[in-house]
Amino acid sequence: PAPRVQLLPAAGTLPALHEAVQRCHACPIGAMATQGVCGEGPLRPRVMFVGEQPGDQEDLRGRPFVGPAGQLFDRALRQAGIERETVFVTNAVRHFKYEPRGKRRIHKTPSQQEVAACAHWLEEEIALVQPRALVALGATAARALLGRPAAVLKERGQWFTRADKRQVLLTLHPSALLRMPPEDQAEAFENFARDLALSIQEPV
Ligand code: URA
Repeated sequence: PAPRVQLLPAAGTLPALHEAVQRCHACPIGAMATQGVCGEGPLRPRVMFVGEQPGDQEDLRGRPFVGPAGQLFDRALRQAGIERETVFVTNAVRHFKYEPRGKRRIHKTPSQQEVAACAHWLEEEIALVQPRALVALGATAARALLGRPAAVLKERGQWFTRADKRQVLLTLHPSALLRMPPEDQAEAFENFARDLALSIQEPV
């Protein structure tokens, strides 16, 4: 079914946005999640990194990228010479979508409708945070930010311009690296960190 029309008014500040997200029922995911997770970081940063959705740890702790994918992301940021405290980190989707399996909660990719239902939160966050540039971590974020499907393996490391003139750099999602065969991970990590380093250079 199509998502219900979002009736919540624009939040106006990041804390108000975070509050409003907790009351969002525009798609079914929120009902199963512990809480809505918004982005964190300074206003007017050089870069805003956008992931897919909170994972298990993020859902429990209420913060983006604090689980295994977040730890890999932090390591890659350090290698790229970027301090996490200086950038804004958020997600395309505000709630953790999962399938219960015994005691575990297995990540499920959000549907296109769910991403679309959540897009206004991301857009409002971008408008409030005013980053100099955006980085899409993976295909869900790329599609949410660019409004079109992206082939991240082909388009990674490249800048694209949105309709609102904001620049978006595409790269892989850190979870994609975690799923690679161990023998491929070191090189994939180097390439990922190189992409992240591009995010603090002016687009050419
Ligand atoms: N994966 C994401 O896309 N975002 C998070 O916050 C954590 C894992």
